[in-house]
Amino acid sequence: MKIVIPGGTGQVGTVLNRALTAAGHEVVVLTRRPDGPGEVHWDGRTPGPWTGAIDGSDVVINLAGRSVSCRYTPANLRAMMDSRVLSTRAVGEAIGAAAHPPRVWLQMSTATVYAHRFDAPHDEDTGVIGGAEPGVPDYWSFSVDIARAWEREQERADTPHTRKVALRSAMVMSPDRGGVFDVLSRLARLGLGGPVAGGAQYVSWIHDHDFVHAVEFLVDREDLTGPVNLAAPEPLPQRAFMRALRAAWRVPVGLPATRWMAEVGAFALRSDTELLLKSRRVVPGRLLEAGFAFAYPEWPEAARDLARRRRTGRRGASGPLRTPAS
Ligand SMILES: NC(=O)c1ccc[n+]([C@@H]2O[C@H](COP(=O)([O-])OP(=O)(O)OC[C@H]3O[C@@H](n4cnc5c(N)ncnc54)[C@H](OP(=O)(O)O)[C@@H]3O)[C@@H](O)[C@H]2O)c1
Repeated sequence: MKIVIPGGTGQVGTVLNRALTAAGHEVVVLTRRPDGPGEVHWDGRTPGPWTGAIDGSDVVINLAGRSVSCRYTPANLRAMMDSRVLSTRAVGEAIGAAAHPPRVWLQMSTATVYAHRFDAPHDEDTGVIGGAEPGVPDYWSFSVDIARAWEREQERADTPHTRKVALRSAMVMSPDRGGVFDVLSRLARLGLGGPVAGGAQYVSWIHDHDFVHAVEFLVDREDLTGPVNLAAPEPLPQRAFMRALRAAWRVPVGLPATRWMAEVGAFALRSDTELLLKSRRVVPGRLLEAGFAFAYPEWPEAARDLARRRRTGRRGASGPLRTPAS
């Protein structure tokens, strides 16, 4: 198949490109900074020669979006919103105008669209969309607003010959340098991988192999449209999540951090505490119902596999990820 990945130069794109190319597909990445074969220039918002890559393709997987790991300043929030909404609009228009449109458009979304919650998991049918839950900082609703606007843009795109799926993905764990697993592993190995603010908040995650297989599954399954949760079936509290990560790295202790220490750490890392403190208890209702089998349903085994691959440099730990331009 010819598979086009707008925004495919980042962490998730690297995982997908590697696996889909190895499986024999032709992968074309749309990027603002093309840097080699298989990469085509676009600006993420206006039509141009890049639309020719989409016309005649089989699958489009749009990942473009300014990184959410940043301080939530007004300018950064605007960039997070615009980069997602405008790139999704541009992709939708290109598909709508194509003489030979792709048969499926997988659009990245996020598990963050669901409410901060401890008591029960969110699946696609019964899950509660966030933004109005009590007891959380008001500004947490921004990320939900961004996720909803992102999904709405795909829904309203006029692409009658193309099936549309929104990927409500949890954190994709891969052994690549600069990815989420790498960052958390570094903290754990420094002895800083303890519970944050008590550690009761749930962490949703998905192993990179399962993420790739879920994408392939969604490409094949003509009957699946709309939002699909991409998360392992066993989310777990942050305290247990970090304990298993420390065990995978054979680090005996992890210093606990208070909410206040998390604020300081997030400031130092130019990030935001929502990424650490929001309880993301998200499960893959539709994937399981459709018969998808996870190779890594439980975090301790997934963490052991990722740490082993990171240590040995095998399968996906080949080099640093490109730093996305802001
Ligand atoms: N990583 C995860 O675990 C995870 C989980 C759930 C959802 N997501 C979402 O999935 C997408 C991909 O994640 P990722 O971790 O691979 O992100 P990433 O490493 O930050 O890469 C995102 C890509 O988007 C492009 N981009 C950034 N700003 C842009 C802009 N203003 N206009 C157009 N393109 C822009 C960049 O490509 P160029 O610089 O080459 O143009 C970059 O490589 C993101 O939207 C993210 O929010 C990620």
